[in-house]
Amino acid sequence: MLLMSAMKLPDNFYDKIKPRLYQRVGKELRLAFRVLDLGCGACELAQYLSETYAQKVTGVDISADSFSDKRNVAKKTKRIRCIGKDAARLNFIRNEAIDAVIISWALHEMENPHAVLQEAHRVLRPGGKILVVEFPRNSLAQKLWNENYYTSKELAGFLRKAGFKDIRAKQIEHKQILWVTGFRSKN
Ligand SMILES: C[S@@+](CC[C@H](N)C(=O)[O-])C[C@H]1O[C@@H](n2cnc3c(N)ncnc32)[C@H](O)[C@@H]1O
Repeated sequence: MLLMSAMKLPDNFYDKIKPRLYQRVGKELRLAFRVLDLGCGACELAQYLSETYAQKVTGVDISADSFSDKRNVAKKTKRIRCIGKDAARLNFIRNEAIDAVIISWALHEMENPHAVLQEAHRVLRPGGKILVVEFPRNSLAQKLWNENYYTSKELAGFLRKAGFKDIRAKQIEHKQILWVTGFRSKN
């Protein structure tokens, strides 16, 4: 059953909150320098982070078509690169090479979320942070796109299974967004 609050929101709700969400992601990951965006889509968030926080961002998406035009931006700034690969196989990134991983509105589309999170854990440095932003089950997104989404409990369980610690899950933006963070332990 859809949440009551979801029923009253406009259909363009997610478009409207996107800039605010980017700012929030930026603040959450501001201490990181090397950021990995898995399921990056058109690499828009990567571009925002590199422009706003001067971070070095690698975007990975299984469908490379969406960001072909961003390759030029990447070449120009040298701070972002967008790669067309499966996030479940990050063998082109060495162990502990990344300070923060972001997976935004993408984990629910990934065929093997467990493998993706294990890879995220492997490439993060000890103490590095993961942020998963998702649509929750029974949200407006479900009404709009009729996809299957995880609950916060399920997502937290996925992160735990992949080895992450200090996991926190909350619902924000009228409970239409799941915001889950975790860390790779320091030892
Ligand atoms: C809804 S889009 C989200 C895009 C972007 N992160 C955003 O916040 O706007 C989900 C993306 O995940 C990508 N994706 C799905 N499975 C993937 C996988 N196994 N590895 C990498 N990307 C994947 C899709 O190609 C798609 O671009």
